[in-house]
Amino acid sequence: MKTIVVGGSGRVSQCQKPRGWLGRFVLRNMNSRHSKVTDWGLGHVRIQPHYTILDVGCGGGSTLCKLAGVAAQGKAYGVDYSEESVATSKRTNAHWIAVDRVEVQHGSVSQLPFPEGMFDLVTAVETHFWWPNLPTDMREICRVLKPGGRLVVIAEVYKGANTTVAKLAEKYASKTGMTLLDIGEHRALFANAGYSEVQIIEERDKGWMCGIGRKP
Ligand SMILES: C[S@@+](CC[C@H](N)C(=O)[O-])C[C@H]1O[C@@H](n2cnc3c(N)ncnc32)[C@H](O)[C@@H]1O
Repeated sequence: MKTIVVGGSGRVSQCQKPRGWLGRFVLRNMNSRHSKVTDWGLGHVRIQPHYTILDVGCGGGSTLCKLAGVAAQGKAYGVDYSEESVATSKRTNAHWIAVDRVEVQHGSVSQLPFPEGMFDLVTAVETHFWWPNLPTDMREICRVLKPGGRLVVIAEVYKGANTTVAKLAEKYASKTGMTLLDIGEHRALFANAGYSEVQIIEERDKGWMCGIGRKP
């Protein structure tokens, strides 16, 4: 029988806001476990070498590493509200930070510590279902995008995904506080937050989804 541990230092709570030695362990694990879905999702957006990119909920920092490698003349910023995630992302990206190609900051998606219109691209991998207020948090991301810039949201956990983990997450969402939306609800979320050219792409067999929107 599978168990979901909610609250305290349980596994679900560690994915929401990693802390302590268990948080470091979970972050290292997520760095490898989320790699394939991240590559698949990022494959749906064009990343130019000069791009300034923000990864929201950067966790252990492996997406930042990928982004810094692709945006070879640009810069990748990470933000996370967990001190443990910020510290782990900094360790993962020590080389890129030393050459000023990556910067990691502590902060919440609800109040991003960046000026309006700073980013060509914002990424969010396996994090948006934890955000406190999805409609306003999506607008806050829109604020920091340049006109024409894009937000890409990548997730393996969403309503209707045909995997055991997603089904368990859906069953216990009221206890964990996760906001799980289906494909149509994601489309509406992007559109209502002011994004245009909204695309929601699903890899049904794997239970992967990727939402993309453009700031008009
Ligand atoms: C499941 S982990 C995913 C981490 C990483 N993106 C990855 O793919 O491995 C979720 C991350 O989102 C962060 N997070 C959750 N809610 C957040 C919020 N409101 N603001 C900023 N970061 C948040 C957590 O601290 C955690 O590091």
